[in-house]
Amino acid sequence: MADALKIGIAGLGTVGASLVRILTEKQNLLAVSCGRPIQVVAVSARSRGRDRGVDLSGYEWYDDAVEMAKHADIDAYVELMGGAGDPAYSSVKAALSRGLHVVTANKALLSRNGVELAAIAEEKGVILNFEAAVAGGIPVIKALRESLTGNTVSRVYGIMNGTCNYILTRMEKEELSFETCLKEAQRLGYAEADPTFDIEGNDTAHKLSILTTLAFGTRIAPDDIYLEGITNISLEDIHAAADLGYRIKLLGVAQKTSVGIEQRVHPTMVPQDSVIARVDGVTNAVAIESDILGELLMVGPGAGGDATASAVMGDIADIAKSRPGAQLVPSLGRPAAQLEDYRHGEMQSHEGGYFIRLTVEDRTGVFASIASRMAENAISLESIMQRPKANGDGPGRQTVVLVTHATTEKAVRTAVAAIEKEGYLLGKPQVIRIERPKSV
Ligand SMILES: NC(=O)c1ccc[n+]([C@@H]2O[C@H](COP(=O)([O-])OP(=O)(O)OC[C@H]3O[C@@H](n4cnc5c(N)ncnc54)[C@H](OP(=O)(O)O)[C@@H]3O)[C@@H](O)[C@H]2O)c1
Repeated sequence: MADALKIGIAGLGTVGASLVRILTEKQNLLAVSCGRPIQVVAVSARSRGRDRGVDLSGYEWYDDAVEMAKHADIDAYVELMGGAGDPAYSSVKAALSRGLHVVTANKALLSRNGVELAAIAEEKGVILNFEAAVAGGIPVIKALRESLTGNTVSRVYGIMNGTCNYILTRMEKEELSFETCLKEAQRLGYAEADPTFDIEGNDTAHKLSILTTLAFGTRIAPDDIYLEGITNISLEDIHAAADLGYRIKLLGVAQKTSVGIEQRVHPTMVPQDSVIARVDGVTNAVAIESDILGELLMVGPGAGGDATASAVMGDIADIAKSRPGAQLVPSLGRPAAQLEDYRHGEMQSHEGGYFIRLTVEDRTGVFASIASRMAENAISLESIMQRPKANGDGPGRQTVVLVTHATTEKAVRTAVAAIEKEGYLLGKPQVIRIERPKSV
């Protein structure tokens, strides 16, 4: 059997500790599958004394991950600390520059510095793998980077944040408020103490920026993402969506249009009978639409120590199986120098259906006025209806829900702004975009 692949692991938290345990438990199976053993030789984290439920006594300890990346006697560096800055950035850069293969689960790092790091990996002829960075255990990076080679992708979208999906699912199934479900998610360890990053959509945006690059061959553009979180979603929206045959999900969507590429993260109404609408709880799903294959939908665990470690293990196994001198798959699907400039598709030109919920004064003429403002902006309505009285609806107050046929963001924004000027609105209008899967 060939020499062992020697690895160093920086970060021994949820994912890192799972990885160490699984590599120990599965060492025989991995050696057979990879044709050589995988051997952990060095580890690093912040606090050496912390009990991590795994035996670390046989490994060289480094207090500083960058030192480990620079000096440890390893073939591959595995970064599981997180964060776009240091020590993740400097350690990965140092490892690649030294000619080590790298595996990371760090979407924040790749979203910010992915092109630079991929270019160093190419120059040094080493592998930079990051399957766990998007949708945890779901092998979406490999699918886009390798399996769909030759396909032209038109849209990639998905549920990529388990915390948000858990909250929206519980709100719907148990008729609970957003705040109650968020607290429950924190109690169960699904949400961070500071959940802003998840519920405001930033986490999904990081992942989406990586998928966009793999899907469309463009440079990573994390700052060109339209972002709307789920904090404004109420039970009323969820009920209205259900009555209309939809469910609300936080989707990240990257789509090629005639004007550029739209990258957007926002609450989205998806048809109840679509597969993605039925993805509940912390589960993730990613759909890829392309010309040759059609629609591919992958559903699975998007987080958790073992699920994420499974993806990291697959990346390490790829390195173990690689042959010196063989041509490597470019980290971002094509050589970094051949990535095209990102052409931003403005949100204003987004085309699709819209759900609009308005709380208005209960008087004659309001319905007609709403319909007129829509017509003035060439918005054709699939339905307009008065909702049964909701909790907050007292006398003189009613809720009107509209669903539009395909129109533009600009038209909807203009029509809603005109309605706001009419003086009969009693609350902030709610606008939710509708996304229709191609087939399922
Ligand atoms: N958890 C998931 O479900 C999941 C899913 C997909 C991707 N990921 C990604 O996987 C990576 C790790 O996530 P995680 O959930 O395992 O994080 P975590 O539980 O917070 O663990 C982070 C680890 O990194 C170490 N660390 C943090 N800052 C450090 C520093 N400055 N120097 C040295 N070590 C440092 C910590 O050391 P101490 O233990 O000593 O504090 C800890 O062992 C992140 O990039 C994350 O985005 C996680």
